[in-house]
Amino acid sequence: MGRIGVLKTPHGNIKTPNLMPVIHPGKQTIDVKKYGAEIVITNAYIIYKNEVLKEKALENGVHSLINFDGPIMTDSGSFQLSEYGDIDVTNREIIEFQEKIGTDIGTSLDIPTPPYVKRERAEKELEITLERAKEALEVRKNLMLNSVVQGSTFPDLRAKCAEILGKMDFEVYPIGAVVPLLENYRYKDVLDIVIASVGNLPPSRPRHLMGAGHPMVFAFAAAIGCDLFDSAAYILYAQDDRFLMPEGTYKLENLYEMPCSCDVCTNYTPDDLKSMKKDQRMKLIAQHNLYISFAEIKKVRQAIMDGSLLELVEQRCRAHPYLLDALRGLKNYKEIMEEHDPLYKKSAFFYSGPESLNRPEILRHHKQIKRLPQKDKLLLLPSFRKPYSKNIQNLILNHPEIENIQDLETIGKLYKINDETNNGKIETNSLQIAVCDVPFGIIPLEIDEVYPLAQNEAPSSLDEDSKKFVRNILKDYVKNFNEVIISEKIIKKFDLPYKFENYNNEFLKIELNDKNKIKYIADYQFGKGSGNALFSGDINIVKSRKTGKIRHVYDGDDLIATLRASDGIFVLSMEGAKRLHNYLKYPKNRVVVNTDAEPFAREGKSIFAKFVIDIDINIRANEEVLIVNEKDELLAFGKSLLNGPEIMDFKVGQAVKTRKGVK
Ligand code: GUN
Ligand code: ZN
Repeated sequence: MGRIGVLKTPHGNIKTPNLMPVIHPGKQTIDVKKYGAEIVITNAYIIYKNEVLKEKALENGVHSLINFDGPIMTDSGSFQLSEYGDIDVTNREIIEFQEKIGTDIGTSLDIPTPPYVKRERAEKELEITLERAKEALEVRKNLMLNSVVQGSTFPDLRAKCAEILGKMDFEVYPIGAVVPLLENYRYKDVLDIVIASVGNLPPSRPRHLMGAGHPMVFAFAAAIGCDLFDSAAYILYAQDDRFLMPEGTYKLENLYEMPCSCDVCTNYTPDDLKSMKKDQRMKLIAQHNLYISFAEIKKVRQAIMDGSLLELVEQRCRAHPYLLDALRGLKNYKEIMEEHDPLYKKSAFFYSGPESLNRPEILRHHKQIKRLPQKDKLLLLPSFRKPYSKNIQNLILNHPEIENIQDLETIGKLYKINDETNNGKIETNSLQIAVCDVPFGIIPLEIDEVYPLAQNEAPSSLDEDSKKFVRNILKDYVKNFNEVIISEKIIKKFDLPYKFENYNNEFLKIELNDKNKIKYIADYQFGKGSGNALFSGDINIVKSRKTGKIRHVYDGDDLIATLRASDGIFVLSMEGAKRLHNYLKYPKNRVVVNTDAEPFAREGKSIFAKFVIDIDINIRANEEVLIVNEKDELLAFGKSLLNGPEIMDFKVGQAVKTRKGVK
């Protein structure tokens, strides 16, 4: 759910995810811009309450007051309200004040209801927060506005609040009152709150996890849909002689070595720092803290671009057992994560432990596998060298006696499963060969080069969770066949509980041909029957001379599709798009654009989100899509850059990268 974005403000654009250091309007001594800050947050209430600061801010603006020329967000005093129980400013006054001092993004006076309060209190305070949000919209003129999601630790209240606020016209949606949870390492509760909120907020607006400032949580928070972080942690920790690191916190008194390679850590030793005056030392540690925080933010953005954010999250969540709890909690949110997960990524899937079994790629595989043709017999082989289909061809097809595959050492002795199969309900007479492995469970050989079935790595030594996981997958999968023949290696590896009988002297006709393969890949990618619809006629398969892999599929001289080498999926040609459009029923894979956009689409120009009037809501980012008009006439085809709900919600930016237009 992590995303790269651009937030536009009157004082410039910033990339997200990003961190906003908290600036104290009266006491700040560190130039945070020097250490990577592009946007900061300060407190309008503190300025409002101090006559000197107030006058300066009203006269010269908040940018001059805190000496920062980039975007400034201001908070409203809600935090003081939650700390001291009372403040003397109204919602209306603080909104007007923020507008007057030239804040870029202001905040209304929400009520930060603490965690674990009685439901009645959370509901009551939520009503006030919502009223004030409404009032803030009426009061503001040009000020961009935050509207804070509250609701304590009640996910349904968070969801309700997000839904109501999401329908109003706010520019940023903070998720509030999580500081007490973060301070107590209750990351699992933060997860539940964030997902309840994010799942109901408009995808086109940034979400700000208020008060999250420890670099340890950035990757995780970004992966559940947070775009902005703010914190005074860099300075608060420094005052306490503590160094922030993505893997935790280090106290100066325990440091034998400096923890990183920033300027501070290379120029000073722990003893140098210890012998300094408190104030000087504090400044240096704060510099380190800022440096390391922005380094982590950059790492998160790079990981999102690479498609490896969850790999980073799995590393970071080993930093604290409660973070690991939160990571394990993702198990409850597989569906929503899958909806946001791009179909194809640049990086391979790395298994880092049982938590990886909850990843969206695996859930998706088990949904898509149902699109494949039904066969009556299943031959389950143990994993061997990837790509399986190529190496099994060497093992079996080039073997002088193909019916005698039981001799092959790699495959092991074969058994027949005696129970759990569906005993004769399927009428076709055909064989499916699949490899059984962690973490994807079942890999039908025809699709073994499709992302991420080939682009993944897992350790060969198995943990108990993986064994159980594969046993459960097998249990469901074998029910689809009349007869299941299985290698002893799988039985042993996964401790399978079935009854087996010897499997002997039966002739297994292995049909691993290219025509089958391209149809399977198309079915897996576009849905049941797509392979037959796309690849009919005088099919001619052209392979790469260098790698021997399938490259192009033609009907006579007409190119239908190209199989992309990097991720093993089909990229359509014009003819392929027309065939798929003919076959798939509306709205499947459709992006519908208005009449204004029609000529641009036909010329092959990319599609902007604001022109999209309807969509197949199940489209994922990086999917091959059909661009049509309201009459479902094919205008063009291309690759989605966002998922369906995101494309519908965004009013700026590209939605589809068009490959070709239909003239
Ligand atoms: N800073 C930290 N938490 C909160 C919150 O819930 N609301 C506001 N306005 N500021 C905060
Ligand atoms: Zn350092």
